[in-house]
Amino acid sequence: MLAGRRVVLGVTGGVAAYKAAYLARRLMERGAAVRVVMTESATEFLGPHTLAAITGTRPVVDLFDADDVSPHTTLGRWADAVVIAPATAATLARIANGLAEDAVSATVLATTAPVVIAPAMHTEMWQHPATVANVEKLESFGYHIVQPESGALAAGDVGIGRLADPDLIAGAVAGVLPGGPLIGVEVLITAGGTREPIDHVRYLGNHSSGKMGNAIAAEAARRGAHVTLITAGPGIDHPRVTVVPVETAADMAEAAWSAAVDADVAVMAAAVADFRPANAVDGKLRRSDGPPTIDLEPTPDVLAGIAEMEDRPFLVGFAAETGALDEAIAKARRKGVDLLVANDVTAPGSGFGTETNQVTVVLPDGSTDPWSLMPKSEVAERLWDRIAELRKREGTSN
Ligand SMILES: Cc1cc2nc3c(=O)[nH]c(=O)nc-3n(C[C@H](O)[C@H](O)[C@H](O)COP(=O)(O)O)c2cc1C
Repeated sequence: MLAGRRVVLGVTGGVAAYKAAYLARRLMERGAAVRVVMTESATEFLGPHTLAAITGTRPVVDLFDADDVSPHTTLGRWADAVVIAPATAATLARIANGLAEDAVSATVLATTAPVVIAPAMHTEMWQHPATVANVEKLESFGYHIVQPESGALAAGDVGIGRLADPDLIAGAVAGVLPGGPLIGVEVLITAGGTREPIDHVRYLGNHSSGKMGNAIAAEAARRGAHVTLITAGPGIDHPRVTVVPVETAADMAEAAWSAAVDADVAVMAAAVADFRPANAVDGKLRRSDGPPTIDLEPTPDVLAGIAEMEDRPFLVGFAAETGALDEAIAKARRKGVDLLVANDVTAPGSGFGTETNQVTVVLPDGSTDPWSLMPKSEVAERLWDRIAELRKREGTSN
């Protein structure tokens, strides 16, 4: 199954390019989202509009004349898998030698996703020592080669070199993708501490490092989810994590509310300012002007905004407390979350900037489950186990 998976289909300039249209369909029928990248030569054999109409997005052909300023890296990062079908002898040679000269080979070099290559060419080209050596090299990179078949080739020739059946290629793509319980699940995570400007150089902030949110994002991605990580902190580098950097509570609210529309699960681990200076000063406040009076106003409530959505994601809130958990329990009831993670940020080894955390999971019915002190990565693992359990109880399949 390819449900929810993102596949980049690379098409190069051989007669079999027309079969790429079938392959795009087969991949989509299996549930994949497909984006296409083509070489210039491929467009001689198959019109980009055909693939645009099938996939719903325009293929990238020219690296320097796409809507995106860096289409190969965007596609490379977006992909859960890249498949080149058909792959010409020339494209095999370019990729084997790291020559990122065109949109297809540049995308392959710019991805860390698994790569499937389905060559197609005349028998002489397939059996040429150069092609044989290139294929061996590509296999040594860990790329999966779908061997061409014997049969009718272009111009009435018969022999080995015909593109493998598109169903077989789609099956190979499904086969190279790592499994995971969160495959096809869209996850939204907020992390870090927001900064609310007082003037051009100063802000009201908090001690949140973003480490807990990052650990939750990394674990979700490890389990196969696509993650949107909206963070006022450093973020993480993972092919399935899209990092959206923000600064203020208002920026975070805007980004989170928009991402929540497509999210299945939202984990609000950011430390969002409750108040901000009502009138941030342009320029810099001067010592010589004496201590300023700073009026504060409430910031948008990111969590409440999602809780109030009609078709909201499974919602996990975080509450940083300084002592007893009474307020966290009241918050779990009041805020309309499915689960609240409370932590006493004054406890040793717990809270801001530490590598460990001691949290208590609070459910809306007021029940509490205190976890022992453990690394944040382990808190993240247990949290995803708990979320899976609760979503299963709700009747969600993954
Ligand atoms: C009619 C025709 C058919 C071709 N078919 C193939 C083919 O099936 N496989 C192949 O490797 N090259 C084939 N070529 C040669 C490629 O189009 C040529 O090597 C081109 O530079 C490949 O560019 P690309 O890899 O950037 O798409 C064909 C050329 C022509 C004119």
